[in-house]
Amino acid sequence: MKDKYGREINYIRISITEKCNYRCFYCMPQDDDIDVTIAEKEWISSQEIIKLVEMGVQLGIKKVRITGGEPLVRSDIGDILKGISSIEGVEELCITTNGSLLYEKLDILKKYGVTRINISLDTLSSKKFKKITKVGDLERVWLGIKKTLESGIEVRINTVIIKGINDDEVEELANLTKKYKLDLRFIELMPIGEGRNYSGLSGVEIREILKHGGLELYNLNKQEGASEYYTLKDGKGNIGFINPLSNCFCSECNRIRVTSTGDLKQCLNKKSNLNIVEFMRSGIAEEELLEIISNEIYNKPKKHLFNSINEKEEKLNMNKIGG
Ligand code: GTP
Ligand code: 5AD
Ligand code: SF4
Repeated sequence: MKDKYGREINYIRISITEKCNYRCFYCMPQDDDIDVTIAEKEWISSQEIIKLVEMGVQLGIKKVRITGGEPLVRSDIGDILKGISSIEGVEELCITTNGSLLYEKLDILKKYGVTRINISLDTLSSKKFKKITKVGDLERVWLGIKKTLESGIEVRINTVIIKGINDDEVEELANLTKKYKLDLRFIELMPIGEGRNYSGLSGVEIREILKHGGLELYNLNKQEGASEYYTLKDGKGNIGFINPLSNCFCSECNRIRVTSTGDLKQCLNKKSNLNIVEFMRSGIAEEELLEIISNEIYNKPKKHLFNSINEKEEKLNMNKIGG
């Protein structure tokens, strides 16, 4: 369906859990025990997720991305993927993961038709990886990445460059696209939750670093979703830039989000007006709920308002929104 600005909305991102087995400092609250902040019964169930996608398809959704927190910590991930992949009209089923459980769970993802796996990776140093994630094991993540590459499922690496943390690794990270057949995307750090306390590098600054390091980027003139793609000479994969701050792509936005507790988010930094799961549990007739959802989609805001974000408006951390 189209929203009131004429944008075709065909992509839903569902955060299936706010729980994460990592604690990246720019993503998660560091002092809370988030594992107990929300009772599991409030989480969207596997049946509710499947129902939600079925309804989305009726409104024109074609692409589904499962996010978190860390989606692979959910023990019913197989049921969720199986249910979604069997819905007629779902053309792409993707997942965004920190990669920690990928080695163990890849077979389930493959079996249920996951078409692309996006893996968060901000550093190639084991020591720094631990510093960023608190508990992460980089070697384990690499086992998962390599196994995914061997399986033939498309891999995209998501990297956020933060000043004083990993800005010395830009070239090394970019060079991964020469070594492996994967895309690596540099994402600008957004002022969301904990992310507001740090300063990230813009896409232009990253391109400058690459240029100074003698790495020549060729513009593929390809904007796909949030990302603008380039390639290095002899690159096996591409380098993408997701620049929500320096080069807002909201006019091309095609997505809506649902949080792990069922809140429909019209935009990444817009407070939700509608809890779909509460409605589902109230026993509302499907046509009526579809009408309510399509009204929300129609009224998607024109663009994000990161710079004018109001503390009272939105306090969610990225692990709840799902990126
Ligand atoms: P592809 O389908 O592979 O293009 O993935 P994707 O970019 O849609 O999904 P992914 O979860 O890999 O997103 C990477 C990051 O890009 C997210 O974690 C967000 O930080 C950012 N991002 C994705 N969509 C949007 C968006 O609509 N607005 C903004 N501001 N950022 C977004
Ligand atoms: N800005 C940009 N990206 C973020 N992520 C988490 N917090 C932020 C933020 N404030 C990224 C993670 C992961 C994806 C799910 O979201 O690095 O790649
Ligand atoms: Fe977990 Fe991903 Fe957030 Fe890190 S960035 S804490 S891996 S949800």
